[in-house]
Amino acid sequence: MRIPISRFFPLLFLSAAFPVQPPSVQAEEVSPQVLERIAFGSCDDQNRPQPIWEQIAKQKPQLFLALGDNIYGDTTDMEVMKAKYAKLGAWPEYQHLLRTCPVLATWDDHDYGVNDGGAGYSRKVESQRIMLDFYKVPGDSPRRKRPGVYESWRFGPEGKRVQIILLDQRYFRSRPVKDTRAAEEKAKLNLVGWYVPDPDPKATILGDTQWAWLEEQLKLPADLRLIGSSYQVIASEKGMESWGYFPLERQRLYHLIGKTGANGVVFLSGDVHFSEISETKEGPYPLMDFTSSGLTHSSPVWAAAVNTFRVSPIAYAEPTFGQLLIDWKAVPPTLTMQACGLTGDVAFSKTVSLGDLRKK
Ligand SMILES: [Fe+2]
Repeated sequence: MRIPISRFFPLLFLSAAFPVQPPSVQAEEVSPQVLERIAFGSCDDQNRPQPIWEQIAKQKPQLFLALGDNIYGDTTDMEVMKAKYAKLGAWPEYQHLLRTCPVLATWDDHDYGVNDGGAGYSRKVESQRIMLDFYKVPGDSPRRKRPGVYESWRFGPEGKRVQIILLDQRYFRSRPVKDTRAAEEKAKLNLVGWYVPDPDPKATILGDTQWAWLEEQLKLPADLRLIGSSYQVIASEKGMESWGYFPLERQRLYHLIGKTGANGVVFLSGDVHFSEISETKEGPYPLMDFTSSGLTHSSPVWAAAVNTFRVSPIAYAEPTFGQLLIDWKAVPPTLTMQACGLTGDVAFSKTVSLGDLRKK
């Protein structure tokens, strides 16, 4: 069934003065729009200057993916949470982005409400509603009817189809296990974080319902699948939150990609205040994780921590956003991943052939 484009971007043709609305497409429907330019980012402190949105708008992305820590909420007071979202929304540079392209968002810990928070956060129901309101998620979206903010969308005809999956890694997540080693011992190992891997088979990131949903999404046909994960999937040695601290959950993710025959998977992540690309051979084909963080601030100390999975030439620790350029004319089509800085400069770039993102 062809869906009129106005169904996805209803205000696009009305006036540039209004924000572009997010797509209301349901998972089983496909937007006809062919995606060639997508931007994404994470970690935006609403109290800091926001010049990066101007640079992102200048690149004319067709979509912006906000991967979490989209504000620093860190509260159980929902009036405070709303005020902090309002502060982000009031920046003229952010409003400019909203007039440029739709924004699709998931959350991480700080916008969820509590640093490194999980299933135990007391205000998650209200926080979900406030988050979906801020991003103008339509009332008929499945995200309005179920716990957790995860969702997926598909764009483009067969052969040029992009699936975007945004996961919720907070609402259902078990408590991670603390690293009790002395600071000196961790420093010797170049560890900057505070967790150790949890081998408990009951520990979860996604929870049963989201796992079952993800399996169904991965069975849908697509040529490129961008899976937005609020924290890193592949890099897992530095001691900070990542899929690596729930090793059985990560194994399950890699296995599910193989089991469903889902070709074209690339992970996008944020959270760590620097940017890099990591790659693992543990999946059915080379799996990559393009991390872009943060939009307003960065951490050279965290960037210097160990990551033996890194395949980008550097870990970039300046305010940044990620840009994804898809060349459908190439045979096979290609995806170029660029880490961009405040002036639009490209800090590092990597191009992959979609032909290599499938089981041989
Ligand atoms: Fe975070």
